[in-house]
Amino acid sequence: MEHSTKTASSVKIRGYKYTISAGRVYLKSINMTFTSETLTYKAYTYSSKNDPIHVTNQHILLVKKGDEYTVPSNKILVKVDSAALNPVDLMLYNSAIFPFTLMNSNQGIGRDYSGVVEAIGSGDDLGLKVGDKVCGLYLHPLGKGTVAEYILLDGKTDVAVNVIPSNLSITEASSWPLVYGTAFAMHDGVAIKDKKVLVLGAATSVGRYVVSLAKKYGAKEIVTTNSERSLDLVAALGSTSQIDYTKHKSILTPVLESVKDSGSFDAVFDCCGGERFVSTSKGGYFSKGDVYFDCRR
Ligand SMILES: NC(=O)c1ccc[n+]([C@@H]2O[C@H](COP(=O)([O-])OP(=O)(O)OC[C@H]3O[C@@H](n4cnc5c(N)ncnc54)[C@H](OP(=O)(O)O)[C@@H]3O)[C@@H](O)[C@H]2O)c1
Repeated sequence: MEHSTKTASSVKIRGYKYTISAGRVYLKSINMTFTSETLTYKAYTYSSKNDPIHVTNQHILLVKKGDEYTVPSNKILVKVDSAALNPVDLMLYNSAIFPFTLMNSNQGIGRDYSGVVEAIGSGDDLGLKVGDKVCGLYLHPLGKGTVAEYILLDGKTDVAVNVIPSNLSITEASSWPLVYGTAFAMHDGVAIKDKKVLVLGAATSVGRYVVSLAKKYGAKEIVTTNSERSLDLVAALGSTSQIDYTKHKSILTPVLESVKDSGSFDAVFDCCGGERFVSTSKGGYFSKGDVYFDCRR
C-alpha cells in the first residue's frame, strides 16, 4: 500500500498566518511584528489653532521580541478603519493656544474610531485578540487622535473599547461611541421609570440616544423638541409628544402647556445647548443641575 504525506505550508501576510494543508486554507491570527523599533504612520495633526490640520508622520516605539519588534506589554495596536468627528474636536482645535501647545505640538484630531486589532503586547489578558474588529473612544484630549493610520491603546486605561456588534458595519461602528457615551452619562443616576421627561434637541446625535435610553428605562412620557423633518424618526425612537421648536418664538410656552396638561417634568435633558431656555425659565421652573441635565457637562 502506498502512503502519500502532504506537508502543510504556511505563509504570513500582515499579521495573519495562512496555513495550506490538504488543499484547504486555514487562518490563524498572530501578533503583527515589525523589523524596526519604530512604527511610523500617517496622521492628521496640528500644532496650534493657527496651524492648518495636515498629514504628518507619527511614531510608536516598539519593544524587541526575539529578532523582531512588537508593541509594549498591555498595549493594543489598532489599524484604524474609520474615525468620526464631533463638536469636541473643533473645540479642542480652537483651544490649542499657548500654554497648552507646549504640552503637545503635534495634536491629533478625532476621538471616535473603529478598526482592527493588529498586535497585543504581552501581559494581562485584555479580553481582545488579534483580528478583532473594535470601536471605541480614544480619550487622550491633548494627545494623538483617531484620524490616523494607527492608534495605540492602553489595555488598562483605555477602557472604552468594544468588539463591533455583528449588526454594524466597521464604518458605522466609528460613529456612536462619543454621542452614546454622552447620552449614557446624562442618564447616569437619574431614575426615570414611570416619570415625565423633556428632551431638548431630540434629533441631535446625542438626543437620539437620550430618547432611546429614556424609552428603554421606562419613562412614562417623553416630550421632545425637534422640527417637523425629524418627526417620524424621533417618534420611532420613543417620543410621546413633540414640540416643533421652529414654530415657537420661545419653547417655554408649549413646555408650560405640557406642564398644565400632564404635570411637571421630572427631568429635562438638554441636548442642544439650551442656555437661553434655562435663562428664560429662571422664574423657578427648572434649576440647572437639579432636574436639568446638560449634554455639555
Ligand atoms: N456630538 C457629540 O459627540 C457631543 C458630545 C457631547 C456634547 N455634545 C453637544 O451636544 C449638542 C448637540 O450636538 P450634536 O453633535 O448631537 O448635534 P447635531 O447632531 O449636529 O444636531 C443637529 C440637530 O440639531 C437640531 N436642532 C438645532 N437647533 C435646535 C433647537 N433650537 N432645538 C432643538 N433642536 C435643534 C436639529 O434637529 P431637527 O432635525 O429636529 O431640526 C438638527 O438636526 C452640542 O451642544 C454639542 O456641543 C455633542
